[in-house]
Amino acid sequence: MTEPTKTATLSFDGKTFDLPMFTPTAGPEVIDIRKLYGQAGVFTYDPGFTSTAACDSTITYIDGDEGILLHRGYPIDQLAAKSHYLEVCYLLLYGELPTATQLEDFETRVTHHTMVHEQMHNFFRGFRRDAHPMATMVGVVGAMSAFYADSADVNDPWQREVASIRLVAKLPTIAAMAYKYSIGQPFVYPRNDLDYAANFLHMCFSVPAEKYEVDPILARAMDRILTLHADHEQNASTSTVRLASSSGANPFASIAAGIACLWGPAHGGANQACLEMLREIGTVDRIPEFIARAKDKNDPFRLMGFGHRVYKNTDPRAKVLKNSADEVLELLGVQDNPLLQVAKELEHVALNDPYFIEKKLFPNVDFYSGIILEAMGFPTSMFTPIFALSRTVGWISQWKEMIADPQMKIGRPRQLYLGATARDYVDVENR
Ligand code: SDX
Repeated sequence: MTEPTKTATLSFDGKTFDLPMFTPTAGPEVIDIRKLYGQAGVFTYDPGFTSTAACDSTITYIDGDEGILLHRGYPIDQLAAKSHYLEVCYLLLYGELPTATQLEDFETRVTHHTMVHEQMHNFFRGFRRDAHPMATMVGVVGAMSAFYADSADVNDPWQREVASIRLVAKLPTIAAMAYKYSIGQPFVYPRNDLDYAANFLHMCFSVPAEKYEVDPILARAMDRILTLHADHEQNASTSTVRLASSSGANPFASIAAGIACLWGPAHGGANQACLEMLREIGTVDRIPEFIARAKDKNDPFRLMGFGHRVYKNTDPRAKVLKNSADEVLELLGVQDNPLLQVAKELEHVALNDPYFIEKKLFPNVDFYSGIILEAMGFPTSMFTPIFALSRTVGWISQWKEMIADPQMKIGRPRQLYLGATARDYVDVENR
């Protein structure tokens, strides 16, 4: 932990309190309020944590005003163009880009953990066929602690490492199984001769009845989508994983909590909601109607895929995905996909509308990802599971960082209480 660099002074009711401040390597300075309640008998108040740093971290940095995203200092657009998902996983987990030998060893370890315990197949069969794949993933990932109890002790560094590799390796298999189960097709085992993204496509789209060759263009597009969703600082699902595991809960249970949080349409569920919105808009001429609804305070409708708690500029991941959408759809011969036309016109209209300009609402990572995933053959119900399998490495990296921090404490926020003060019980006949 860094040392304080200056002091903030808080004064109220004729009293003054000095609070240490820390200077980051990048981003806003922070005021350390850990001793505030003990010194001043007051809490700070920040529902939604809009101005609260819940931890210190060295993994991912976001500059929302400039639209910058760095993983261990490397810009996301460079990683998307020059790296690949498993190399980014290594970077997030261990802090540096791997040497060729380190990368080969890491890829070999992940590849040889992609199968799941055969009994887990039965676990899927307890779900209704029409269960949303996210419901299945929450359940099955949570159940991993029952199958992999030998890597559930968070106090054992070796078990933490094994759990990390198992989760990165098995999430694609579980996501593919959730998909196959939802469409009534047999599970497809992973193949060690395929790379990570190709293996996932193979487990999703191959069937025993015929040979399936993974299209390298789709594999590259899939890998890029996974790279772009890998980690994103202290977002809601990452904060959920940190809070869940701060109690000492095993990593599988904590990651299941992260998947549950990601499912919400305000977070990772936005990619599914965004594509459903584009489909509901249908044609470019209906865009003004939906823009008006998004601006109407009496209408709960929001433009899915727009806006962000941190980015007040275009999400750099959306820029990469927009180019990727053009490339993938053209290569697939569906460049005139009406949804892509609607998306591009919607983006143009919104970015020139005073409401969106004033509120700094730009396309986020979920705006274009769904268009690419649909063009690749995935149903909308699989968009958030793909986000979850990609983000697992980010959740695990943040979890490892927190567990290894000697300052780690169980997360336990306080409240501004506005309820009834103490009063005596009233018997029912007297109410
Ligand atoms: C992800 O945190 C992360 O890093 C998340 C993520 C990651 O990688 O982990 O980046 C992934 O979750 C991306 C976000 C995906 N969600 C969506 O696309 C859903 C649509 N977006 C919104 O629901 C909203 O923008 C949020 C939830 C993303 C952010 O909301 P905030 O920061 O709480 O902002 P807010 O709701 O207070 O909105 C500020 C103003 C409001 O108007 P006023 O009350 O000030 O008048 O902007 C308006 C909102 O009504 N607004 C929108 C809008 N988003 C915000 N109006 C229309 N359409 C929108 N999409």
